[in-house]
Amino acid sequence: MPTITPLDASFGAVVTDIKLASMSDAEWKAVEDAFHQYAALVFPAQHLSDDEHVAFGRRFGKIEVLRNDGNEFAMISNKAADGHILSAEEKRFQSLRGNEGWHTDSSYMPLAAKASCLTALVVPGSRGETELADMRDAYDKLDDAMKAKIEGLVAYHSLYASQAKAGYVFRTGESYGFHKYGTPIRPLVKVHPVTGRKSLFIGRHAFRIPGMDDAAAQKLLDDLLEYAVQPPRTYAHQWQPGDVMIWDNRCILHRACPYDYSEPRIMRHVRVAGEPETELVQTAPDERADGFEPVAAE
Ligand SMILES: [Fe+2]
Repeated sequence: MPTITPLDASFGAVVTDIKLASMSDAEWKAVEDAFHQYAALVFPAQHLSDDEHVAFGRRFGKIEVLRNDGNEFAMISNKAADGHILSAEEKRFQSLRGNEGWHTDSSYMPLAAKASCLTALVVPGSRGETELADMRDAYDKLDDAMKAKIEGLVAYHSLYASQAKAGYVFRTGESYGFHKYGTPIRPLVKVHPVTGRKSLFIGRHAFRIPGMDDAAAQKLLDDLLEYAVQPPRTYAHQWQPGDVMIWDNRCILHRACPYDYSEPRIMRHVRVAGEPETELVQTAPDERADGFEPVAAE
């Protein structure tokens, strides 16, 4: 059976003595239980193939297909298929830089993601970590006044807005159809569908709170985020090729960390779709049609 060693943080564990590509049912049960308890799991030196990676993701649920290439995985890389290193002007590079802001995957889609699973294929000489933050602990440690203030509040989640805040402009059709269905509206306080624990559901895609002045809403969201992503509820994983990490998007924020962008960093990503019963939300009409203007790059 796997050895599960908690991280030195409010969440997360390293799982060893297991081969993800050939788990027994009992081992999978231990992994699934640990996923719910720790919310993020690191599996060193797994070296999964494409198919093995997708199969591991499928253990958690249906795979969210991110690109129109027929694959259930997506490469996240600053090295293009033709071998060139992406330049700062390229949209894919801007997406990678956007990922350096704290977020939860697909919160800007009507159906948010359940889990995200990364593995490292090529890592830069230093940095390029993936950092996680535990929004269960962040919620638990809020004072009662703040808990009362945010209970019942909802926020819009938009990739247009988050990329604009990062200084980039996105347009319809440039990616996989986000906002085709309007802008999702999600509660700031999320109840985990399995554990029942409450967590803060925020991050860079959240940008407007109905019933609140936009500037005040942004300040509240910024203040909550700054407070939330502090030790002991953060962990930065320094990748080695072959490592696998999976986290629960329903209660964990994540971000990519900078590195020397002239060096290749090649990750493979499998995203598990949320269950519609708990992760599908109402959408408002596209915010751009509602007067939303991207801010200029500085
Ligand atoms: Fe992400």
